[in-house]
This record gives sequence, C-alpha cells and structure tokens, in this order.
Amino acid sequence: MTEKILVIANWKMKLGLQESKDLAAVYKKLVKSEAEVIVCPTFVSLDAVGKVLAGSGIKLGAQDCFWEKSGAFTGEVSVSEIKETGAAFVIIGHSERRKYLNETDEIVHEKTKLAISAALTPIICVGETFDQRQQGAKDYVLINQTTKAVEGLEIEAGQQVIIAYEPVWVIGSGQAIEPQEAEAAHQVIRQSLFDLFSAETVKNNFRIVYGGSVDGQNVHTFTCLNNTSGVLVGGASLTINDFVAIIKNV
Ligand code: 13P
Repeated sequence: MTEKILVIANWKMKLGLQESKDLAAVYKKLVKSEAEVIVCPTFVSLDAVGKVLAGSGIKLGAQDCFWEKSGAFTGEVSVSEIKETGAAFVIIGHSERRKYLNETDEIVHEKTKLAISAALTPIICVGETFDQRQQGAKDYVLINQTTKAVEGLEIEAGQQVIIAYEPVWVIGSGQAIEPQEAEAAHQVIRQSLFDLFSAETVKNNFRIVYGGSVDGQNVHTFTCLNNTSGVLVGGASLTINDFVAIIKNV
C-alpha cells in the first residue's frame, strides 16, 4: 500500500469559532493535495469546522478526548460525541496537556484505549523536554512514553495509530531539529513498537510523524525520511500561506 503523507494541523487554542470556520473555508478552497490532511480545531469549533470542510477530502480530528465513555465528568468530551462530529482522529497526550493539565502516561494510555475502542485514530504525542535531553534521557523518554501509551492494547486489522514525535523544546521555537535526529528518534519509537507488537502490526497499523516548528522550508527534509509518514504542524497551520507552502513542499 502506498501511503499518502500525513499533514496534521493542530490549531491548539489559537482561534475562535468564527476564525476557525473562516480558516477552514480557506483551507477548503486552497488546500489541494495528494497528502492526507487532517485539521484539529478546538472542541467548540469541531462540528462547525467539520461542516465547512465537508466534501473537501480534508479530514477532521479533535485535540483531546476523555478516558471514560460517558457519565458525570463535567467539562469533558466523550469519544462518541467526537465521532458524531465526523472526526476520525484525536490527538492524545500533547506535551502541552502533559505539562499544564498534568496528563500522565497512564491517562494517555486510557484515552488511547478508549479512542481505539471507538475506532478513532489516536495521534499519540511523545517527546523529551530540554532537561531530559540534556540529561541524556531522550531515548528513555521516547521508549517509556510510547510503551506506556500502547502496551497491551488490541490493535485490530484496519485500526490506525499515529505516534507523533514532538521534541518539547522545539515546539513553537521556529527552529526544528535536524532531520537525522528525527530519523533516529523515530527508529527508537519503532523499536519500542516492535517489542510490543508483531512486525506486521507495526508495519500495517502504526505511522510515525514529526512535529515541532515544521514550515514550508523544512517540511520536505522530514517527509523524505524513510521512517516518517508525515508531520504535525502547529503555528504554520494557522496562516494559509504558510500552510499551503507546507502542502506544496510535502
Ligand atoms: P509548532 O509547529 O508551532 O512548533 O507546534 C508543534 C505542535 O505542538 C503541534 O502539535
């Protein structure tokens, strides 16, 4: 199977409802691509953006989900409600949630498990902080976060799982890491998966993408790597010219 390159746009909490609808409309008009493009707006904008994007081929993802199916969990959003909007993807364990919302590896695991049970494609974020890198703990962090997220999960045929390697210290910095470094990190992540699943499952069901200051200039240096299936884009997904440049150079 020849896979399309994934380009995932994480709009974070940067746009309002109307701005999200407006940007989605511009995406629909200008983002013509062979790539598999996925847009992840806030929960409030998810349904509306999905409606704007309908018929465009651009796919929809949420930025998070809750780990229980339903119940008395004020403020949380269930995987079934996410699916109702037409979203097929969900970002889980972004470093900003790990940092500001105290999301643990256990929480990431529970959310991933539920997302998979709902046949959503989880986009699980892993990556080291600057301090962890300085301490030489990068590989350890990648192995640990990857393993804890997916260990013991049943991955049915056809279920996709995306692991996004995002070095935390590079996010929003404007300076991506060297592609060789991403390639090495992706190899570590893939090795962790081989320790948990059959080679066939790793090959057919898992994809690894890079995130962290991706732009139109550097995108190709990542997407041309052997073990890299695409990119997860923050800042550069918010302005149409930057995003179109990414799509063009992918
Ligand atoms: P930037 O592309 O702004 O560095 O953000 C990356 C990111 O966190 C995507 O999830």
